[in-house]
Amino acid sequence: MGLVKALRNRRATNRSLPKAPSGVQGLDEITGGGLPRGRPTLVCGGAGCGKTLLAMEFLVCGATQHGEPGVFMAFEESAQELTQNVRSLGFDLDDLAEQKKLVVDFVRVERSEIEETGDYDLEGLFVRMGQAIDTIGAKRVVLDTIETLFSGLSNTAILRAELRRLFRWLKDKGVTAVIAWPGTSPKLPASEGNAACTSPSRSRRARSSATCVRLVWGWSLG
Ligand SMILES: Nc1ncnc2c1ncn2[C@@H]1O[C@H](COP(=O)(O)OP(=O)(O)OP(=O)(O)O)[C@@H](O)[C@H]1O
Ligand SMILES: [Mg+2]
Repeated sequence: MGLVKALRNRRATNRSLPKAPSGVQGLDEITGGGLPRGRPTLVCGGAGCGKTLLAMEFLVCGATQHGEPGVFMAFEESAQELTQNVRSLGFDLDDLAEQKKLVVDFVRVERSEIEETGDYDLEGLFVRMGQAIDTIGAKRVVLDTIETLFSGLSNTAILRAELRRLFRWLKDKGVTAVIAWPGTSPKLPASEGNAACTSPSRSRRARSSATCVRLVWGWSLG
């Protein structure tokens, strides 16, 4: 495809799909402006490839440059650990929280409880996340990583149903969301997540130091 045609196509895509800048310059360039606004984007990648830093950059960029407050739902690291990790990068999460531009909420998930009861739904998370969003009028949300929530679930049908509900809930809230997932994609039948992940029209790769992060947007579970 010629350069002119490619640029024309990109402009047409941008018109039909508003974008929220991620703050990562190269990523915003190759995605024609950032992540799809008001939609969830699944960010997949191995350990240490940059999922958390990308998610944090996305929230800090929104809060400081675009007047879009953000909520970071953390399932692996506490607010204190996250704050300490990114301080050397110039991100002052305490200051953003004081200015009501950011909420970091650490949700401790006991995997054994999920496994034992077998009775599982995301209602509690929706209530908690909804409160955090409403408190500061958040426009951006990060969930890092939802694999922690679902790791005890062997029932694929429940997993799919709950993921679908989560994506729908985020869309209904109208927030631009980043959902981190370690590895290539959630453990779904190949015809579901993998098909979406490898679709060249929907995925883009952003180079990181060690390996790569794969972004999947407009991702649908059925
Ligand atoms: N403040 C920092 N200064 C320099 N490098 C950092 C800093 N914080 C993280 N890193 C490095 O950046 C890379 C990406 O880290 P990040 O925590 O985003 O990875 P991740 O994909 O979330 O990993 P995991 O799946 O283990 O959570 C890692 O190599 C990490 O060591
Ligand atoms: Mg991480």
